[in-house]
Amino acid sequence: MTIVLHSPIVTSHTEPLSDSTNLPEHAEGLPCAWTVADIENESRWIFRLSAPEANELIVGVRRAYVAGKSLLDYHRENFDFKLSLPRLADAFREVRDGRGMALVKNLPREGVSAEEFELMTWAIGLYFGVARPQDRQSRYINVVKDVGGVYRSPTGRGYSTNSELDFHVDGSDVVLLSCYNQAPVGGMSMCTSSIKAYEVVRKERPELAAALHTPYPFSRNGEQTEDEPPWFLAPLAGVEGGHLFCAWNRNRLENALKTEGVPPITSLQREAVEYLDTVVRRPDLMYCMHLEPGDLQLLSNQTVLHSRTSFEDHADESRKRTLYRLWLATPDSRELPPGWEHAYGTREGGAVRGGTKGHHYDEACRRFDKRQAQAMNMKQPESTRSLR
Ligand SMILES: [Fe+2]
Repeated sequence: MTIVLHSPIVTSHTEPLSDSTNLPEHAEGLPCAWTVADIENESRWIFRLSAPEANELIVGVRRAYVAGKSLLDYHRENFDFKLSLPRLADAFREVRDGRGMALVKNLPREGVSAEEFELMTWAIGLYFGVARPQDRQSRYINVVKDVGGVYRSPTGRGYSTNSELDFHVDGSDVVLLSCYNQAPVGGMSMCTSSIKAYEVVRKERPELAAALHTPYPFSRNGEQTEDEPPWFLAPLAGVEGGHLFCAWNRNRLENALKTEGVPPITSLQREAVEYLDTVVRRPDLMYCMHLEPGDLQLLSNQTVLHSRTSFEDHADESRKRTLYRLWLATPDSRELPPGWEHAYGTREGGAVRGGTKGHHYDEACRRFDKRQAQAMNMKQPESTRSLR
């Protein structure tokens, strides 16, 4: 496939797209601006499925399963999940309105095959949003497993390596990570509230917080379609509708800066991201957890940054660290700040947005997006509808 390189319109790098001095005054007290102490002192972000709820999930998956059927051809009506939906809905509510992070425990795992576990993750997604493609292959669900990829390469993606990852966000409203197997050593999941980290930067170094509102270049890591430029400009922080949003991805910034035609960032912009990266790793802000088999982690990519430590794996293929990652556009998503449309395709709330269209977005993908958008009663912007 020929990739046509388009250059984004380059705007002034020193002009903030939103005002860091005009933030919602109550942002600091919001549940999404959490510290480790907040997370450890309460468990409202942890949701435990009861035995009947968990059983319903695996029974529903086994009834719906058809050998050889593509995930894109399953409908949510195929899965009878009445009992467990309210608890799962509570977890999604916590992601949007609470901590921006939720952990659902007790997904059935004992005696469940990897294929069944993957389908269960997919089926849960069918009830709560429109799954988005995630990579060059236009895959809608990815197995997070070490297959020997190189994270620090122009096209590197962390999920296929065993490397320690930088703090980052994924490319959708919400990311779901379900744990099938955990590594014997390492592979710890780390999360930091990007809203809290931003607040700390603003308090300690307000001039650096202001720089986070200016556009930075981010690479599409060679995964762009013919219609997309190889990189785009977007601020890390922004305000919309009285809400603060903060995202960050060092790997994509560094890759963009090595791309021909990308303007350098200013020394103030560089200092701002370096400072942010030290703040997100402060022990009072960085929450570490070990995902266990049967755990489902849900994160908002607009209020939480995530990372994971490096790991050593089992030699036995069937026991290797295996997680399933799903990216969702959600029906109750908020309108995004100015400049974020380059990352999401649109700023419009409640729309099918985000994802990496990749190089294999075909008729099956188009059909799925359209049908699932209708099922969720979500708007499908032109940028999603007309993909080639
Ligand atoms: Fe990620």
